[in-house]
Amino acid sequence: MRSILGWMNGSTDKGGAAPSSQTKARPAHANGGDVKLDYTSESITTATLAQMATTADPRFKQIMEAAVRHLHAFAREVNLTPGEWIKGIDFLTRVGQKCTPARQEVILLSDTLGLSTLINTMHDKTAVEEATHSSLLGPFFREDPPKYKAGEQISLRDASDEMVLWGKVTDVKGRPLPNAIVSVWQTATDGRYDMQADDDTMDCRGEFSTDANGDYLIRSVRPNFYSIPMDGPVGEMITAQRRHGNRPAHIHFLIGAPGHREMVTALHIADDPHIMDDVVFGAHGDLIAGIKMDQPGCPVPGVNSIKFNFALSVESEADKKCGRVGADPSKIGATAI
Ligand code: BEZ
Ligand code: FE
Repeated sequence: MRSILGWMNGSTDKGGAAPSSQTKARPAHANGGDVKLDYTSESITTATLAQMATTADPRFKQIMEAAVRHLHAFAREVNLTPGEWIKGIDFLTRVGQKCTPARQEVILLSDTLGLSTLINTMHDKTAVEEATHSSLLGPFFREDPPKYKAGEQISLRDASDEMVLWGKVTDVKGRPLPNAIVSVWQTATDGRYDMQADDDTMDCRGEFSTDANGDYLIRSVRPNFYSIPMDGPVGEMITAQRRHGNRPAHIHFLIGAPGHREMVTALHIADDPHIMDDVVFGAHGDLIAGIKMDQPGCPVPGVNSIKFNFALSVESEADKKCGRVGADPSKIGATAI
């Protein structure tokens, strides 16, 4: 039988086998040792997985095993050098250091690497019913926004380029969902979120609810396309990749109704110059909407508006446990494993 050490070293424990033509002769300077434990670029993966096999939580075990297998495969594929990995460690360290209660550079990294949209896309597929697609929560979400009545204006500083958001929140069969909570947040017309300003005032964000017919009505302003924060390590990466770093103009929604799967999504303005090359891949599918003047049925006449109906799936037991992609940055970083 092969011993564990022999198995990791890729040799037999019989001791008498002639070295294969690929085995290098032992160098003259090598020290002898009573126990020989050499890792190869393959056996180090097996050894790591073997040591982690005691992990108690089965899902944590599954995730970490896959992470180790893929990380090791990645390092092997690109033949990662020590200097390159130190550069990677330096980058990841600075990503963490850039985070504050108002800025989440790790989410930004996940978003710009397409990981957040990948996870959203897989999450959409697990819904019991096919609902409106989800999109990124993004790093500018804040909990407890101001509460507004239907038709109130959320842009407190400058409401000169007014626009109305209206439509219904329904189930997937089109039945209205009354009293659904509709939380909305967006940039001001200058393309900046309130969190990027110098004071703490919440602006261009608010919480509404649908009426008895499932209708919502929000007065806002035309958002603008903008650059993601480029003054950190993620910005350095984007610049090195010769990407522009822009997001098309968009409006975020977080919609909740009892018994239905929470919806995190965003509407992206159809004629925006960056609609096809969003740096965080949030603009897709049915989430691209036009701003139109005087739309038939718009509750506010003579204004630009976006009409959009959101369809929510019923909630499954699994939905209750799966969490959101993204969070209020001030709430991240305080939970141990
Ligand atoms: C945003 O929606 O505003 C956003 C999303 C991802 C990264 C940066 C910004
Ligand atoms: Fe955004």
